[in-house]
Formats: sequence, structure tokens, C-alpha cells
Amino acid sequence: MARGGREHWGSRVGFILAAAGSAVGLGNIWRFPYYTGVNGGAVFVMVYILCVILLGFPLMFAELSLGRRTQKNAVGAFLSVKPHSPWFLAGSLGVLAGFLILSYYSVVAGWTIGYFIESLLGVFRSFHNATEVANYFKAFSANPVKAVGYHALFMVLCMLIVIRGVKAGIERWSKILMPTLFGILVLSIIRALTLPGSFSGVKFFIFPDFSHFSLDTVFLAMGQAFYSLSLGMGCMITYGSYLSRKSNIPSNGIWIAGLDTMVAFLAGFAIFPAVFAFGLKPEGGPGLVFQTLPNIFRVMPGGVVFAPLFFLLLLIAALTSGISLLEVVTAYFVDEKGWSRKKTVLITGTIIFFMGIPSALSYGKLAKPIVFGKTPFDFVDKLTANYLLPLGSILIAVFVGYIWGRDKASREIMDGAPGFKLAPLWLFLLRYFCPVVVAQILIFGFLSEFTSPAVQAFTKILQRYFIIADIALLGVVAVWTAHFFLRKGRKFSL
Ligand code: PHE
Repeated sequence: MARGGREHWGSRVGFILAAAGSAVGLGNIWRFPYYTGVNGGAVFVMVYILCVILLGFPLMFAELSLGRRTQKNAVGAFLSVKPHSPWFLAGSLGVLAGFLILSYYSVVAGWTIGYFIESLLGVFRSFHNATEVANYFKAFSANPVKAVGYHALFMVLCMLIVIRGVKAGIERWSKILMPTLFGILVLSIIRALTLPGSFSGVKFFIFPDFSHFSLDTVFLAMGQAFYSLSLGMGCMITYGSYLSRKSNIPSNGIWIAGLDTMVAFLAGFAIFPAVFAFGLKPEGGPGLVFQTLPNIFRVMPGGVVFAPLFFLLLLIAALTSGISLLEVVTAYFVDEKGWSRKKTVLITGTIIFFMGIPSALSYGKLAKPIVFGKTPFDFVDKLTANYLLPLGSILIAVFVGYIWGRDKASREIMDGAPGFKLAPLWLFLLRYFCPVVVAQILIFGFLSEFTSPAVQAFTKILQRYFIIADIALLGVVAVWTAHFFLRKGRKFSL
């Protein structure tokens, strides 16, 4: 710990790897392929990329700037810019999201530990066909002892790292784990693409079929973008608060979002070719990764080694994200309540473990629509990714764009990046584009949950206006951007 002050990252690479470690997670390798599979493939991917560029980048810069300026956790950052106002609630929403996301995230991460161990024991070699693999997943995830036990083990791993602090815990482990992750991912892709019949998978993933497009696709892709980039809940505020003044926010932000998007893409190339090569359906849902990939390992040469390697990859991705979720919660209690790091991690980690038990049982005893028509697992997943993160993102965009204000925000982002010429464009997107578009999509998504004909008819009318408004807004963004680039001339640097 820096004497008398806040702990800081040890190096730029260390920070980028830790923040990319937060972003790159089950969201990329488990959730992105499964959402892509269920929502029509390449169309979803295209909308997703648009969301990353138009919403993800501006918000990433906003969170990092706010964190570095205030040197505070998700709640403290709002309090220090606007004390004695209800704005701190936007940060509290983030801390709440941290509790909720980690509670079910840890369940899926637990499956990866289980699959890692069982593949080391050679379980996958004993399967004869895809049905056996799928049945194995069903039995595995329905087993309460395994589901809860591995969930507990994952929480303990996260707690052990976060307890050691930012530099000796999070940064040190990210520097070891992230390069390992990239190495294993590249090996998996090479193997998947060399399977006979893998090209249909590539086609499904990169050639869009627009008959699958609907506003729902936009709603889900947006939630996925915030989820995957760890945005909308103060995670990047918290990680940004351990940055020193000298750091270059735009270039760090581009690295983080760029690495995250690249890994999601690469994961698609590791998974869909394999799905199609084995004649499986891409709409496999949450079990996609667990039910399809073991099929490759079952038959491929070297599968004995690749199976544990792949689940280790998933585990590593989950771990570097899990620790960032726990860090959001921890930083809040340490900064605002004056608790020790150790006490905080022990208490919050235990609470999150208990909160996760209903999700852990959602594929067995609780596999029933008991919370608003969903299983506890699905409910927490949808509530956080599709509602809390977009809502948090609107609040952060409005806060940085209007309350903190244009001048202070642009001064902050340019501090450490004096050559950054896109600050006006950034603020334009943050002030006018993000809040409007995210709010619309959120309202639409909410209405589409209702099945009553009256609500559906209303949603249809609304949808028409939304689309017109969005096209107009995109046009304004395009004109504004063109104008901006023409005026500024050729020289650009970040
Ligand atoms: N970005 C992580 C992933 O893709 C999940 C996450 C969400 C982590 C929000 C932190 C905050 O798996």
C-alpha cells in the first residue's frame, strides 16, 4: 500500500491486464456465444459491436475518468463530486449489482471448476455420443452437492485473491492468468477450425441473416455489451480509482474494450465451428459451452489435454472477473465504512455465497419458474444484465455529462492524454446519445416482458417511434462526427 494513501496499480500493463481481466470473463466465453446462438447468430454479433462502439467506449471512458479523478469506490465517487445529493444512490445500485452478479456468476464458475477436475480425471473420454455429453451436463448441474460445493470453492478463490489487495492480489494474478488465457484460447480455435464441417459454424457467426432481427435483439445485445465490458455498476470507476494521474485513459480504455471484444469474437470462433461440426444446435442456452465442447475433446487427438485446458481457460476468465465484482463491493465498505479489507472480504464473500444458493439449485430442485416466471438463476441474470447495468449506465452518463459537467470531465480525460482530440465527440455521445438510446431500449425491453395484448399493441406503436427517433439520432451522430473530423483535419492521436 502506498504509504498513507490509496493503493495504486504497479504498472500500466498490470492495470490493463487487470481491467481486461474484469471485462473478459464468462460473459465472453459462456454468455456471448449462448446469446449469439439463441438470437440468430451474426445479426446479434453486428448489433453487439455497434453497442460496444457507440455506448461501450463512451461509458468506459466516463467510468475510468470519474474513478481516477475521485480516487473513490462506486458510491464514494458520486459523493465526492456531488455531496449531499441522492446521486450516491447510483453508486449503491452498482454495489447491489456487484452482490447480485457475483452470486450467480460464481455458480457458472463453479461448473467450470467441476468440469476442469472431471476432465482431468478423464471423464469425457468415456462418452460415446453428443447425447451422453448433454445428459452428463444435466445431471452435473442438477446435483445440489456439486453445484453448491463448487460455487463455494469459487467464492473462496476470489476471496483469497481480493484479500491480498490491489497490487499483490488482483494485479499479480491478472498478470499470470491473462496471458495463459490468450494462449489456451488460440489453441482451442485452431483445433475447432480444423474440424471437418466447421465452416457452417463460421458462416452462422459472421454472415448475418436479417430475418432474425428484432428490437429484442438490440435490447439483449446492449445488455450483453454492458455486461461483457463490466460497465454500468462502478466496476471501472473502482478500478480507475487505483490509477495514477499520469495514466492515459483513452488509450487504456481502448485496450480494455478492444481486448474484451476480441476475446468474445475468438470464443465464437472456438465454439460455433465445433457446434456445427458435430451437428449440434447453436441454441443450446446456458449449457452451450458445457454440452458442446466436450464433444470435441472426446474425439480429437490430444483431447485428454485439451479438455482440462479449456475448462481452465473458462475458470481463469471467471476468476479475474469474479475478483473485480468482489472488489467493487469491498472497496465500498473499506472506503465508506472504514472496515478492514480482510473483514469486508470475509463478510461480503460469505453473504454472496448464500445469496447464490438459489441460483446454484436452479438446474435441479429449483428448476421452476418461481421468481416472476423465471428460475432464480435466470431472474438474477436478466435483472442485472438487462436492467440494472443499462440503468446504471444511463445514470453514469448523465452524471458525468451534466452534473460533473462537460468542462471538468473533458479536462480529466485529457489529463495524461493531452493529444486526445475526440473529447468533444465523447461528450456528445455521453450527453445526448447514450442516455436517450439506452433509456428507450430499456423501456422497450421492459414492456416486451408482458404478454397482454394491450401492452403488446402499445409496444408495437412505441417501437415504430423508437426506430424513427433512433435513425434520426444516428443521423445526427454521423453528421456531427463527419463535421468534427472535417473541421479538425487529418492529425489524430489518442
Ligand atoms: N465482464 C464480466 C464478464 O464478461 C462480468 C462482469 C460484469 C464483471 C460486471 C464485472 C462487472 O464475464
